[in-house]
Amino acid sequence: MRRLLLGLMLVAAQTAQAQQAADAVAPEAATSGSFDAISEQVARSLAAKSDGRVVEASNWMVAAANPWAAEAGARVLGAGGTAADALVAVQAVLGLVEPQSSGLGGGAFLVYFDAASQELTTLDGRETAPLNATPRLFQDDGGEPLGFFDAVVGGRSVGTPGTPALMQAAHDRWGALPWEDLLTPAIALADTGFPVSARLAGLVERDAERLGRFEATASYFLPQGAPLREGAMLVNTDYADTLRAMADGGAAAFYSGAIARDIVSTVQQADGNPGVLSTLDLSIYEVKERAPVCAVFRAHDVCGMGPPSSGALTVGQILGMLDGFDLGAGPLDAEVRRLMGDAARLAFADRGRYMADSDYVPVPVDGLVDPAYLATRAALLQGDTALPEVTAGSPEFDHALHWADDTSLEFPSTSHFVIVDASGNVASMTTTIENAFGSRLMVRGFLLNNELTDFSFRSHANGVPIANRVAPGKRPRSSMSPTIVLKDGAPVLAIGSPGGSRIIGYVAQGIVAHLVWGMDVQQAVALPHAVNRFGTYDLEAGTAAESLAEPLAAMGYEVNTRALTSGLHAISISDVLKGGADPRREGIALGQ
Ligand code: GLY
Repeated sequence: MRRLLLGLMLVAAQTAQAQQAADAVAPEAATSGSFDAISEQVARSLAAKSDGRVVEASNWMVAAANPWAAEAGARVLGAGGTAADALVAVQAVLGLVEPQSSGLGGGAFLVYFDAASQELTTLDGRETAPLNATPRLFQDDGGEPLGFFDAVVGGRSVGTPGTPALMQAAHDRWGALPWEDLLTPAIALADTGFPVSARLAGLVERDAERLGRFEATASYFLPQGAPLREGAMLVNTDYADTLRAMADGGAAAFYSGAIARDIVSTVQQADGNPGVLSTLDLSIYEVKERAPVCAVFRAHDVCGMGPPSSGALTVGQILGMLDGFDLGAGPLDAEVRRLMGDAARLAFADRGRYMADSDYVPVPVDGLVDPAYLATRAALLQGDTALPEVTAGSPEFDHALHWADDTSLEFPSTSHFVIVDASGNVASMTTTIENAFGSRLMVRGFLLNNELTDFSFRSHANGVPIANRVAPGKRPRSSMSPTIVLKDGAPVLAIGSPGGSRIIGYVAQGIVAHLVWGMDVQQAVALPHAVNRFGTYDLEAGTAAESLAEPLAAMGYEVNTRALTSGLHAISISDVLKGGADPRREGIALGQ
């Protein structure tokens, strides 16, 4: 079996590569050749996505942000691999073909349903602050916060990566196929090259100045000084070598030895903005299993990642507050949007005050999603205009504590994928290096994250500490919301998205669209966005959501029309698997 899988992967990678090379001017269509069944499926999935149709399958399915990554996952699933096996292959390829969003140098959260035990588990592969970091990491000498990109670009923002350890932990626990084989598709693609996608090329062009500040990054993304062009064949032998080392030595090869030393020296010697990451930070890194956080909505359990992510708590609060309201008038009804918008504002107020790494600060996890507490918050939604003032509530606390509000913003990058295997195991994983291209530091073929800027730059407000301030070893608060929705204990939907703190609104809407508005997952992920976080009501430009501008403004909201680039991927699970891929990104759903 092992040799067969290896052979299949190599042949597939090589034949697809030949097709890619011949068709490099249209890279996303280039996976649509007729070399084998899965390549034909890629073509069908791309066509379904452009027609707005859901992809259906009866055995297994994967939906990810890039066709190469989905294809790697599909090959593993087609060879009998589990969802955990497939996630290793998908993540390894994403780190190559979508390097701006996620990779070995970043962190991730996994929500996993194990069909044999019927158990839901969440694994925290979030980056950690270096042991030498202090609460003033992102402050100037006068204690004022640094400018965002002054903090991001360079070594200061780099946390200890968690993604390699998470891949290994998931495989150790639920994998069936040999670890080294799962890295083979990414190694083959890195060695032979892949065509730069339109999205990657566009982002490189926009970020050329920052990417150009560091030699290794510049020589990869700006060869001969010019930004990579769409369709250019990109080879990354350094990345292939890193994966080969991990294929032989497991994730341990990443966290110790030459790779770890290179990561640390790159961070500590970053020109103009060095960081304090050390080999000790890498050597002590651990994936943490956390209790899933679940909230009830429409007789379903909506479950996801608890602290240090604010995702499941905030999505759960929004849905929990909405559960008693009739949302049947649909996504373009202003009254429905008033309810959704103010529920989100109330939830974000709690998020800003209470949510952080619960290993460092007590977080009232149960209190925040307690139905009795949410009923008191939902009672605030009874009016018919925008709430004039929104403040954090007082959930039941284990300890009497008082925190100041954190008003820091997050900027979108990140990637989300979902996988269901033939045995019914389900993976929902959101993965990130934070900002597009992370810290812009590149080492051994992958980019290093800037995840530490997800901490509050301020440590206190008016003398009161902020829960999400920096501390040694602490994990920055996240908005990532990998979600599995259960009905009577069985998974019915896996969903998630990139998008900074807008992830929360994207995921909440996707769940409402599917469970309340009866949309299939392709319709749900394509639905125009209307997102409220700190008060402005953001409407997706160029979509039907713009029709909400006038009525929402009349209700008292400050309305803002702008691009809202989610990257939702979802699979609904019943007798048939149905997959949806966000039309705003380059991904597909593939199944059989
Ligand atoms: N860096 C994005 C997030 O963790 O929410």
